[in-house]
Amino acid sequence: ARTAAVIPAAGRGVRLGPGAPKALRSLGGTPMLIHAVRAMADSRAVSLVVVVAPPEGTAEVKSLLDAHALPERTDFLVVPGGDSRQASVRLGLDALPPGYDIVLVHDAARPLVPVDTVDAVIEAVRDGAPAVVPALPLADTVKQVRPAAAPGDPEPVVATPDRSLLRAVQTPQGFDRATLELAHATVEDDVTDDASMVEQLGRTVVTVPGHEEAFKVTRPLDLVLAEAVLARRRL
Ligand code: CTP
Ligand code: MG
Repeated sequence: ARTAAVIPAAGRGVRLGPGAPKALRSLGGTPMLIHAVRAMADSRAVSLVVVVAPPEGTAEVKSLLDAHALPERTDFLVVPGGDSRQASVRLGLDALPPGYDIVLVHDAARPLVPVDTVDAVIEAVRDGAPAVVPALPLADTVKQVRPAAAPGDPEPVVATPDRSLLRAVQTPQGFDRATLELAHATVEDDVTDDASMVEQLGRTVVTVPGHEEAFKVTRPLDLVLAEAVLARRRL
């Protein structure tokens, strides 16, 4: 079964602060998106990468892909994204040619995921799981709160879920293609990951071990960490 990776990269990166779209910001002198594309293409199983670009940036993304050395055995497609992450993922899925039975969905904002994590996700889908997510235990205790009555009011804590049963999930998330397409065709999409849409279908989602370097670049401090991880790799 051939494997394709869809990379949603169409977000603005509001939480990172003003500047270019997040995926096009530089990390160690190279756009974050190129790191993310390489992370997928470095897996020998991945033969197609579909980049879902900022709508006004598709030409720029195409020339970036041409300008950087990427594995010859991998094909690339660039399509414009949508207003939400899930809309962008769906536009990427719509562009997938026939013949790819396993689909990874990977955030451009997770540029440093190691190839072993990518391969572990693919392996678990090959072994029969319809949906696979890399997951890590939480460091922080998590509280469930009730929304503040008025802006600025305190938020009362209503529960403390058992942390040992909670996981922070990352990408790439891996899917049997038909399952992911069905999820995107039938499930309401105000969700933050693709696996939760598969959960809503009642299908099983399994975890594989995540990796701390697969963290998402969301806020400015994450960029500092990402630069440090890259610098350490280059030693
Ligand atoms: N994404 C996308 N299309 C959107 C929104 C998000 O393709 N309309 C992508 C982002 O480019 C990113 C991934 O989804 O690679 C994860 O989203 P997130 O980290 O939230 O990125 P942004 O939405 O860009 O950031 P923010 O929420 O801070 O604006
Ligand atoms: Mg977002």
